[in-house]
Amino acid sequence: MSSKKSTSADPAEATYKPDKKFAKKARISSLSEYQELYQESIRKPQKFWAKEAKELQWRKPWSKTLKWDPPFAEWFTGGELNVCENCVDRHAEGPRKNKAAIIWEGEPGDKRVITYAQLKREVSKFANVLEKNGIEAGDRVLIYMPMVPEAAIAMLACARIGAVHNVVFGGFAADAILDRLEDSGAVAVITADGGWRRGKVIPLKPTVDDALQRFSKVRRVIVLNRCGNDISMQEGRDVWWADEMENVSAQHTAKGFDSEHPLFILYTSGSTGKPKGILHTSGGYLTGTYATCKYIFDMRDDDVYWCTADVGWITGHSYIVYGPLANGVTQVMYEGAPNFPDFGRFWQMIEEYGVTIFYTAPTAIRAFIKAGDAFPAKYDLSSLRLLGSVGEPINPEAWLWYHEHIGGGKCPIVDTWWQTETGAIMISPLPGATPCKPGTATLPFFGIDAAVLDDAGNECKPNEDGRLVIRQPWPSMTRTLYKDKARFKKVYWSDYPGFYTAGDGARRDKKGNFWIIGRLDDVLNVSGHRLGTAEIESALVAHHAVAEAAVVGRPDDLKGQAVAAFVTLKTGYEESPELVVELRNHVAHVIGAIAKPDDVYCTAALPKTRSGKIMRRLLKELVSTGKISGNITTLEDSEVITSLQKKITGGS
Ligand code: WTA
Repeated sequence: MSSKKSTSADPAEATYKPDKKFAKKARISSLSEYQELYQESIRKPQKFWAKEAKELQWRKPWSKTLKWDPPFAEWFTGGELNVCENCVDRHAEGPRKNKAAIIWEGEPGDKRVITYAQLKREVSKFANVLEKNGIEAGDRVLIYMPMVPEAAIAMLACARIGAVHNVVFGGFAADAILDRLEDSGAVAVITADGGWRRGKVIPLKPTVDDALQRFSKVRRVIVLNRCGNDISMQEGRDVWWADEMENVSAQHTAKGFDSEHPLFILYTSGSTGKPKGILHTSGGYLTGTYATCKYIFDMRDDDVYWCTADVGWITGHSYIVYGPLANGVTQVMYEGAPNFPDFGRFWQMIEEYGVTIFYTAPTAIRAFIKAGDAFPAKYDLSSLRLLGSVGEPINPEAWLWYHEHIGGGKCPIVDTWWQTETGAIMISPLPGATPCKPGTATLPFFGIDAAVLDDAGNECKPNEDGRLVIRQPWPSMTRTLYKDKARFKKVYWSDYPGFYTAGDGARRDKKGNFWIIGRLDDVLNVSGHRLGTAEIESALVAHHAVAEAAVVGRPDDLKGQAVAAFVTLKTGYEESPELVVELRNHVAHVIGAIAKPDDVYCTAALPKTRSGKIMRRLLKELVSTGKISGNITTLEDSEVITSLQKKITGGS
């Protein structure tokens, strides 16, 4: 039964071949079948993608599969479809009508099952609500919701009427909402009074109110009553979800939109202070998420799939809402924390709902390892047949534990590499075909021409580190940064003209497997979430006591990376434990709790080059190793490093 190990004595070095039984039933059953299809898909990517796109429902066929004017792509030009209709109506009108689309559990234990027919009713009603409130195709709508079915319903209703959603993760603070409102020019907000997290209500509407005090273009705020916490409603602007849904029809005629009609904007961190608005469009995005779910998660009609991400991130967009629903699968959705009431919550839910495919992040797995094997051991996890990982490189220890304690030694693990920008999974094993080694995302998906290049643009030799690039366009790629084509070109397409630069370092082994090393830019990966060091720095310098700030990542056993901040104080302020606490809270207040620095070091000066550039590289080395190995003679003041070193290592 177990997925076969090769002979290596060290389990971390072993190769895990797909389980034979799994492979027999899988869509792609052997490495040679993958290789053959992959080569063909790279020779003729348009043919591959057109075949996948044809499995969706189009209102009008496309006339051209790809229009490529680097770096601007159009896929399925001239075609028209309705994304929501593909995710909902298509199933609600066929044999899947009474099949569960979403099995939802709230953190306090409340449960709901929504069939595809019911989902169609809810989405249609909410589409009518949006239209009744004057929201039209092309309008931007900000969604700030807990993990409740209404978050997916709101997204799908926007897609249905052609409005462009911008989901903001519920953990972000008012300033982050404000930035996104301003950049996207949103006209409406959909939110809730609050959501449950670790047994407490996290208020959401008050945070929206705070942002809206500084942004007046939002005409309507639709508020879901989730927790019953006390909130205020502004007359003429704010309305309740339930009231609005009461008096609208459950019929809504969806119309087709151009394949390149914008579907959503999702902001993500980059190298500069302002998050980037990643724009995704309709036909190509849906094709990419649909096809990757089908092949990589091997989705079947009898599967119960569960992705533990939040809809506030790209994983929630592509692998909770659009991809799984386009495949008509049954999925589990959960509102709260993995450790509430204890670390058995996920495993208990897998047992209860008979989850067959489970997709989570390495940071969660590391927290489970720490909590102890006894939690998963208490539950029957035998329904599982496939596991997935996303968000950061999975360390071998986490991979092996996941494989053994969750997958019972029999489930393939798909370690999926991709990004907000790529829209869908790019590099991943195919569960019935690809031999896996802990720590590698293995091989590119069909139609994805991935490579590792050196600085001169040549392909790296096996095991040589370089930069990860994609050499041909693919349907679910971001089309541009919202309202900033120049920055789009510069950030992603200028290192090697015509090629997409992912911003990740990588190497390929002799078998061609991709090993992702991590970000090459000033982006941190904290618990699988992208945070820009520049964003945290600008939050810090916005505090009245701070003159200058430099933020770097340091390795962390649980979170992957932790946030280390160095600040110089303005005259009149002195370092104190209270000030450190205040600065950490200040960042949480400006950006959100996920960005809260783990360490704050006050220093007399920051290490700079003679031309005045802060040397973050040195700070990074210092917090990672406690010392500096290289030459620091270019430093303006090398004393700074010596005193910082003392501080970090506690004077040793
Ligand atoms: C990292 C999340 C190694 C990578 C879907 C990438 C990974 C960034 C993996 C994108 C993986 C994601 N192995 N690294 N399987 N998956 N990453 O936009 O650095 O939130 O560039 O998208 O996460 O993060 P984003």
